This record gives sequence, C-alpha cells and structure tokens, in this order.
Amino acid sequence: MRDHEAMQTRPSSGEREMSAEGAALSRRTVMLAAPLALMACRRDAIAGEAGQTKPGVVPPLKSLVRFPIGTCGMSGQFDDPAWVALARRNFSQFTPEWEMKMEAVLSDQGRYDFTASDRIVRLAREIGLSVHATTLIWYLQSNAWFEALPASRFTAAYDQWIATMAGRYRGQVRGWDVVNEAVAEDGNGLRDCLWSRRLGPDGYIVRAFQQARIADPDAVLFLNDYNLENLPRKLDTYLRLVERLLRAGAPVTGLGTQSHLDIEIPAGQIRRSIEALARFGLPIHVSELDASLRREGGAPDMRSGAQRTAQQTARVEELAEAFSALPSQQQYAFTVWGVRDTDSWYRRDARDDGRDSPLVFNAAGQANPMFSALRDGFAAH
Ligand code: G3I
Repeated sequence: MRDHEAMQTRPSSGEREMSAEGAALSRRTVMLAAPLALMACRRDAIAGEAGQTKPGVVPPLKSLVRFPIGTCGMSGQFDDPAWVALARRNFSQFTPEWEMKMEAVLSDQGRYDFTASDRIVRLAREIGLSVHATTLIWYLQSNAWFEALPASRFTAAYDQWIATMAGRYRGQVRGWDVVNEAVAEDGNGLRDCLWSRRLGPDGYIVRAFQQARIADPDAVLFLNDYNLENLPRKLDTYLRLVERLLRAGAPVTGLGTQSHLDIEIPAGQIRRSIEALARFGLPIHVSELDASLRREGGAPDMRSGAQRTAQQTARVEELAEAFSALPSQQQYAFTVWGVRDTDSWYRRDARDDGRDSPLVFNAAGQANPMFSALRDGFAAH
C-alpha cells in the first residue's frame, strides 16, 4: 500500500552522500537511475514550485499541476467546514453532482425552478472554484412533461430547455456536458431514448450542441461518456460519433471521459483511450474519476485489500500520466467525482459494504493511496 507520507522526495543527507557514491555506479546503472532521479527531481520541483512541500505535509492536489483539478458535490456539503476546507485546498474547479440537471430544475408540469441550480453555482464560486456544468441532455433524465408533449411542441420545448439553462449560466460556467452518455451500454451503436426517438439518433445531439452554442458562445461544449477506457468497442463507437458530429458542423469543442475506472482492466487500455480521444485535438476532460475497490458482480472477489489498492493506484497513475502527457491546450480539467470516500455515490449505493475507498481522501480528510498515484502520474511529464 502506497504511503504518500513516504512519498516526500526531498533527499535526506544520507541520500546526498549516497549520490556521491552513486557516481561510482556502473554506466548502465547510472543510465537506468538517471530517468528515475529526474522524475524524483521533477516531482520535487513541482511540489516545491507550487506546493511548498515540507516533509510529512501533503501538498494541495491542485499545486501539483498547471491544469484545473476538479471535484463534484452538492449544496449541503458547503455547510460542512471540513468538506469546504478540503475542497478549497485541493481543487480549483467544481461540477454540481446533480443540481444543474433536469431532475433538479424542470418539474413534471414543465415548470422551471432555478433555486437549487442558482445556489450550487453561487456556493462554488463563493469559495473560489470555477464551475463545470452537467448535464443538459441525458438519456436517463427525460421528463414526464417532455414525454407527453406532442410533436408540434417538442422541438421548441427542447430548444427552450437548452437555451434557458445554457443562457442562464453564461459567463458563470467554463463548460457544459451538453450531451451525456449517448453511446449504448455495450458500445453497439447509440442509446435509444426519448430524445433520439423524437429528434433522431444523431439529430438530437447536433441540435443540443447548436442550441447550447447560441445560448453561450464561450463555454466549452462537451460530449461526455463513461467506460471509454473499459470497453474498446464503446470507445470506437464514441469516436465515430464525434467524427459524424464534427462533419455535421455540431460545435463539439470538448471530449469528456468520465473515468469511473474498473481497476481490473489490463494495463495500457486507459492510456490508449486518452491517446485516441486526443487525436481530434480538442480539450479533454477527465470528468468523473473514481476507482471503486468493489467488484461489480462476476466471480467471488478473492483479492486482498492490498491487491485491490495496488490495482487501483496502478490504473489511477496510468490515467494521470496519460492526461499530463497531453498538450496543455487539451488539458481542460482533471475531475474526481467527490472529495472524500464518504462523499462518493458508491457509498450511497445499496451494495456498499462501508469500506469502499474510491476517492482521493478518506472520511477523515486524510490522503488515500490514490493521492500518491495521482502525484506520481502527474509528475511523469
Ligand atoms: O439530496 C436529495 C434529497 O434531499 C432528496 O430527498 C432526494 C429525493 O430523491 O434526492 C436527493 O438527491 C439525490 C442526489 O443524487 C444526492 O444523493 C438525487 O435524487 C439523485 O438523483 C442524485 O443522483 C446523482 C445521479 O448522478 C443522478 O443525477 C448522483 O448523486 C451522481 O453521483 C450521479 O452522477 C452520475 C453522472 O451525472 C453521470 N455519470 C455517472 C454518475 C454516477 O451515477
């Protein structure tokens, strides 16, 4: 299990004397040791530059990198001083976990109520966090009012929903997940949903991006999805969808990969997914990183705690390294889906055993092994 405290990389005096002996090492050993030493220096430099790392002090996560580090949450957490302190220290961006979604704003009678969405945006900005908004159109959140609309009124209502939300928060949010999870669960084509049935499988997506762009000319507009690293076929379908949307002139200006990691996937899949997404040259958002230690279904889980944590930190480090390798103009943000383990949606799931540790900080606000994995991954470039 990684101990982030031991990850402090400032060499002790003994290590400095040893490095004098290091010069006597064979050429091959020095050749091997040099890159590792450079990495340690780089890591030290990053922390020193921004994090002012002192031995035994965990630097702010956001101080380790030059791109925005995000988290998510809901308005009640802003009443928790411990949560606010951790969020302000470690993150620079915030995604409202649910309070800007249709479920929180549009009633089944078609009435808009911005109380929750206005509050969560205000609360985040008041503590100095920029805001990424999620989500305008999602297959999971069609609405009884929309379901009942006749074709003659549907398109105008669809346009009005997008224009109202994107217009209301223009200048207050960096970007929007305009369409969420459009690709089928198994990657075989696109999802069937109210929106696709009424406006066409690609049509509803093109229209949503066009309406969002009219309402907010400056926001980065994302197509967001999950399991792009876990299911190569889903990634391929997503990439082909992006190609079609761009050819159709849809203003897709960002690609979101949620990164709810399956920590048992083979090494390299995560890196390859980021490299494939990056080929469009658009900003990439790791939008919802978490890495549950729990196995969903399948064979009985005989892994030890140490084995699960080793899998988790290896995959998280791979993701952090792949993202930090992107050109800076493609590093929109790196967002973890919650601050503390107990803030995670996984811990609200009926299957939770009370021991899952999918995030960067534990319930007491101490750094989990994931912190060191992120630090090592970010320091690689
Ligand atoms: O807090 C209220 C509570 O006051 C109220 O009594 C109750 C009534 O239903 O709702 C509670 O809010 C719930 C909220 O989570 C907080 O627990 C909402 O109903 C519930 O819909 C909401 O679920 C969110 C879900 O998206 C649907 O919006 C989860 O928090 C959120 O983690 C999850 O996030 C999704 C991403 O948007 C897309 N990718 C997958 C990810 C995880 O499912």
